[in-house]
Amino acid sequence: MPDTWEALKRECERCHECALCQTRRNVVFGVGNPQAEILLVGEGPGAHEDEQGVPFVGRAGKLLDDMLAMIGLDRSKVYITNIVKCRPPENRDPLNVEQDACTGYLRRQIALMQPKIVVSLGRIAAMRLIDPKFRITKDHGIWYDRDGMRMMAMYHPSALLRDPSRRPEAFDDLKGLQREIQQVCQRTTADWRDL
Ligand code: URA
Repeated sequence: MPDTWEALKRECERCHECALCQTRRNVVFGVGNPQAEILLVGEGPGAHEDEQGVPFVGRAGKLLDDMLAMIGLDRSKVYITNIVKCRPPENRDPLNVEQDACTGYLRRQIALMQPKIVVSLGRIAAMRLIDPKFRITKDHGIWYDRDGMRMMAMYHPSALLRDPSRRPEAFDDLKGLQREIQQVCQRTTADWRDL
């Protein structure tokens, strides 16, 4: 049977593939438009996300929304998810074994969405999606071709909250994202003439 978004979501919401299922309140599958051409991938849900079942709803989420708005995007024009769909306790980095258990869901989300552009938010996602040796301070903003998609990593919004001196670099990366969208995404840019 062909995979469907609804079936995948249901399966993910019942997942017991790793120990994070024992401490989660909600599975955080993703938010936004599954038909979008742009996919943003964070690392894993925090406390607010776990409570609400929605990614990027805390302070970092507000900053992410502000960053998207700077280049004419909002949650209806992108899809947002994480490498792991359940909250790692105490907001620690997801363990490799947890990431291994969860990436099948992301792989299926990508197969169903077929995004043109995938943006990693922070080091953890970049190491999974772009290169295991990815160095966020050195490699952010660089574009890579992976499986027919254009991929780039930006600083995680939480890192920008902790260290605002990185914001100018993040702004440059956002402008790079906007340029890339204009080149490869026809649907997203259809109403961008006034930007
Ligand atoms: N940080 C992430 O990486 N993902 C979220 O959903 C929230 C905060």
